[in-house]
Amino acid sequence: MTGHVSRRMLLKGASLSAISIMLSPAFARVGPVRDARIERLIAAMTLEEKAGQLSIFSDPSRVDGPPVNPGLVAQSMATVQREIAAGRMTGLYNGIGVAAGRELQRVAVEQGPHRIPLIFAGDVIHGMKTTFPVPLGEAASFDPELARRTARAAAVEASAKGIQWVFAPMVDVARDQRWGRVVEGAGEDTWLGCQFAAARVRGFQGDDLTAEDSVLACPKHFAGYGAVMGGMDYNTADIPETTLRETHLPPFKAAFDVGALSTMASFNDIAGVPSTGNHHLLTDILRGEMGFAGLVVSDYTADAEMIAHGFAADGPDAVVKALNAGCDISMQSGLYNAHLPALVRSGRIAMKTVDTAVRRVLRVKQALGLFDNPYRSLDLAREARDVRLPAAIALAREAAVKSVVLLKNDGDLLPLSTTAKIALIGPCVSDKGDMPGPWASFPDFASCVTPEAGFRAAMGPTARLEIARGCDYEAPLAGGIARAVAAAKAADVIVLVIGESARMSGEAQARVEITIPAPQQALAEALAATGRPMVVLLRHGRALALSGAVRNAPAILATWFLGSETGHAMADIVFGAAAPQGRLPVSFPQASGQEPFFYDHRTTGRPQLGADPAWKARYREVTTEALYPFGHGLSYATARYSGTTVSAPILAGDGAITVSALVSNTGKRRLHEVAQLYVHDKVASLTQPVRVLKGISHLDLDPGQRARVAFTLTRADLAFVHPDARRFAEPGAFDVWVAPSSVAGIPVSIVLD
Ligand code: GLC
Repeated sequence: MTGHVSRRMLLKGASLSAISIMLSPAFARVGPVRDARIERLIAAMTLEEKAGQLSIFSDPSRVDGPPVNPGLVAQSMATVQREIAAGRMTGLYNGIGVAAGRELQRVAVEQGPHRIPLIFAGDVIHGMKTTFPVPLGEAASFDPELARRTARAAAVEASAKGIQWVFAPMVDVARDQRWGRVVEGAGEDTWLGCQFAAARVRGFQGDDLTAEDSVLACPKHFAGYGAVMGGMDYNTADIPETTLRETHLPPFKAAFDVGALSTMASFNDIAGVPSTGNHHLLTDILRGEMGFAGLVVSDYTADAEMIAHGFAADGPDAVVKALNAGCDISMQSGLYNAHLPALVRSGRIAMKTVDTAVRRVLRVKQALGLFDNPYRSLDLAREARDVRLPAAIALAREAAVKSVVLLKNDGDLLPLSTTAKIALIGPCVSDKGDMPGPWASFPDFASCVTPEAGFRAAMGPTARLEIARGCDYEAPLAGGIARAVAAAKAADVIVLVIGESARMSGEAQARVEITIPAPQQALAEALAATGRPMVVLLRHGRALALSGAVRNAPAILATWFLGSETGHAMADIVFGAAAPQGRLPVSFPQASGQEPFFYDHRTTGRPQLGADPAWKARYREVTTEALYPFGHGLSYATARYSGTTVSAPILAGDGAITVSALVSNTGKRRLHEVAQLYVHDKVASLTQPVRVLKGISHLDLDPGQRARVAFTLTRADLAFVHPDARRFAEPGAFDVWVAPSSVAGIPVSIVLD
C-alpha cells in the first residue's frame, strides 16, 4: 500500500476518492491529495478553460501514415493551434509524429491560458510500428509475462512517436464470438483476463510513470461491453449485477490494482443505462467500491450518443448526465466545450463537480510528469532511434510463435519438411496489408512478413513452393480455384491459410455466422478433393465455427492475426523450428448458433450428460460440447496427466491446500505444457459454473521426462459474488482438476469447511 492515510484525514472525513488517490500506487509520487499547484490552477481557471481541460479530440494534423480516423475532416494546424491556445483542448489522440507534437505542446505551454500541457493519446492495442499478435492471439500464449513484455515494447515505440497515453488494454471479457471486438481482449475467461489486464498495464506504465518510455494505460471499456446482446456491437448489455461483478469487473480491478490511472466508459448501456451517464457504475461502483482514483474518458462521441440512446434529450442534457455520472473527459463530441459553462452558470451542474473532474485530469497529467516535463515522449532523437528495434522485432516473432494453437494434428502430419513440395494457398499469403490485423493503428506495412515470405525464408533458395491466392477474402477470384487446385496437384502437401481479413474483425464487425467466408470454404473443398494432405492455418479475430473440408483437415492451427512477423512465426511452427504451445482463450463452438458459448457455463437442470439427447439442454442439430474447448492446445509431443492429489481433503479456515498432478511427456519431442487448475462448487446459493479456471502453470519436459505441477488453493479462490455484492465462499464440496483443458481430466474432491 503506498502513501499514508492519516487518522486525522479519516477523522476529518477525507473523501473515499481522496483516500483512494493516496493509496493508488501511481499517485504515490505526486504528493498530497490536494496539490497546491493544482488547486491554484483550478481556482484561476475560467469555466471555459475547465471545459477545455475536459475535452479531447482526434488529431488530424499529426499523422505519420494514414489518419486512424479518416472520417474526420482534417483540421488545419492553424485551427488546432488556435483551439489549444484558447485552452479548449486537454489533449489530442491518434496522431503521431514528434515534430508536430512538440509544436502543439509549445503552443499549449507558452500560449495556453494557464500553460497546462497537452496529453497525447493513441489506440496502441497491439504494438505501434512493430505489431504484435492481436491481444486475443497473445492471450492464447497463456503467458501474461509475455504480454507485459510486448506492452513494454509497445510503450517504447509509442512514446518514441509522441504518445503519452494509450487507449489500452481492452479488458472486456467476451462471451459471444459474434462480437467483432473479441479480438482486442483476452477472451472469455475472467481469471485469465485479470492476469493479462494487470500484465499489460504493468508493461505500458513501467516502473515509473514519469519515465520517457512509460505511457499511461487505459483499461477499457467500462463496463460490460463484452456482454452486448447477440454479440452485436454497441448493443444493450442486459446482465445482472452479480454477473457484472463476477465476470466483467475483475479485470478492471486487476488493472487498477497495478496502477492504471485512466479508464474509458463503454458505448453500451447496461439494462437501459448508458455507461457514459451511469452514476451507479462510474461513481458508486468504480470509485466507491473499486477505489479507482484516476480519470474516466468517454468513448468516441459516446456522450452525444446518449441522445440516440434516448437517455439524453439534447447536448446539454448529455453533458449534465455524463459529468454528473463521473465521466471526466468528453472525447470528440465537443459537447463539454459547447455547454458546460452555461450549465454551471444555470446551476444544472455544480462547480464542485466540474472541479473534481478537472482535478482528476490535472493529477493524472502530473502523475505522468507532464507539468515538470511537458516535452516528455516528444524527443526527435528517440523517434529516430527507438522504433523497429531488433529486440522488438524478435519479440514480435516470439510472441507470434507462442500465440499459435495446434488444434489438430492427425497422423502427426506436422511438422513438415522444408524440402517438401508445398502449395501455399490463400487470399492473404502474399498480402502485407493484412498482416498487422485489426486495430493496428500505426503499422509499418512494408516490414510485415507474409506467409509466402516466411516460408521462402525457412525453405531457402531451393524452396519448392507454389503460391496461389485461390480467392479473395470474401469474394471468388476468376480462375482462382483452378489455379490453386493445379498448384495442389503438383505438390506433396497443401498449406491453406484462410479465415477472416483484418477488416472482418474488430469494432463494428459483428458477424451472424462465425464461419469461414463462403469463397474460402469453396476453395478448401476443392483443394481437399485433390486428395493431397492439407494443413489449415486459420487467421481470425474470434473463435470460428468450422465445417466441411476445413473442419476435417488432418492438421489445423489457430493463428489469429500474428502481426509484423506473421510469416516467420507460421513457418517456425509448420516446419518445427518451434513447437506450438498456445491454448485457446475462447471456445470454438460446433456452430455459430450456439453463441454466446463459453466453458464456464452453468449446468442447468437438464445437463447433456451421456448419450441420450432427449429432453436435455441442447440444440437439435449439435451437441453441447465445444468443437475445441477453452484451454485446448496440442504440441508436437504428447502430455499425460496422472496422480492428481490434494494435500488435505478439507480446506479449513484461512488455510490453503496444495493440488498437484504428475505431467509426463510421452512423446518424442520436447514438450511445452500449460497445466490448468479448475474448480467447481457443487452446491451453492447461486448455481455455479461447471468449471472455473483458477491457475495455470507452464512446464517444459524432455521426451520421457515427467514433473509434478502444484497449485495452491485458498478460500478466496472458491469465493463468488453474492446478490448483496459481497464476495465470499460457501462451505461445501468442490471438484478440482489439474488438466490440459477446460473439459479434460479427472477431478478430485475437496471440502471447504
Ligand atoms: C473507438 C473505440 C475505442 C477507441 C476510441 C478512440 O470507437 O471504441 O476503443 O479507443 O474510439 O479511437
